[in-house]
Amino acid sequence: MSTITNHHDHGDFEYDQAWVQDQVRKIQQYIADNKASLLAIDESSSPRILDYACGHGTISLALLDAYPSATFRGLDNHPKQVERYNSEAQNALGNSQSRMWAKVGDLYEGSSKELDSDEWFNFDTIIMSMALHHVADPLQMLVNLKKRLKSGGTLVLVEWLGAKAHDHGKHGHQHDHSGAHSHQHAPADMIDAPGGQKIWPGFDESFFREVLTEAGFQKASIDVRVPGVTFTIPEELMQSFHKGVNELVFVKGVV
Ligand SMILES: C[S@@+](CC[C@H](N)C(=O)[O-])C[C@H]1O[C@@H](n2cnc3c(N)ncnc32)[C@H](O)[C@@H]1O
Repeated sequence: MSTITNHHDHGDFEYDQAWVQDQVRKIQQYIADNKASLLAIDESSSPRILDYACGHGTISLALLDAYPSATFRGLDNHPKQVERYNSEAQNALGNSQSRMWAKVGDLYEGSSKELDSDEWFNFDTIIMSMALHHVADPLQMLVNLKKRLKSGGTLVLVEWLGAKAHDHGKHGHQHDHSGAHSHQHAPADMIDAPGGQKIWPGFDESFFREVLTEAGFQKASIDVRVPGVTFTIPEELMQSFHKGVNELVFVKGVV
């Protein structure tokens, strides 16, 4: 597996912090060890993989060597992350970077002309790691990602596990009069994170089952795994998060 190189840009996402590096390593290890059952990638069909909200390429780099016939495309809405992803691709692949490159893009906000070409549709697998907690409406994000998968394609999410919305007394679910509920998360439930960002403090297991079903993924295909992969958040950041957030959840759904 290729690893992320150690240099970092000023003002960049916190890849230089030890706890983030530990988290990245553990994500890469789990993904690499469980790729067959989690990703359902058919190496014989020259698969196309979208690393959405790619950052420095945690996911693509974990899989690059394992799937030599695959092409990896990254999208991230932050130009510095894209720049870094492309420099990681160059480090890993030298001049044959056609296998792995990224550009600036945001599928949450809807479509843009630049992402309307065939190249950005019909992916075999889309992986979004540690980024769903950044979007105010996770359902909208998943609906938009689903449009980019081919029929039978797989979406994989890597996230922080959070306590059940009801457990922390907030209004993460909205109930209608029939007693059914939908995961219209209320943006007021987002918390302040360092750097002035608002994030979700993780999601519980039932959230993933419900939101993927609501987004149109096959119910029977939804696989939510909490394999006991934990990491330590520095104490000074702990106040921003509620307990339960330092464990990872891996989620799979087929369209
Ligand atoms: C915590 S980092 C995770 C990066 C990488 N996937 C990983 O696992 O290391 C979150 C990334 O999501 C990106 N991001 C946040 N919201 C986004 C959006 N709406 N569209 C695309 N990228 C987004 C950020 O720029 C950042 O690179």
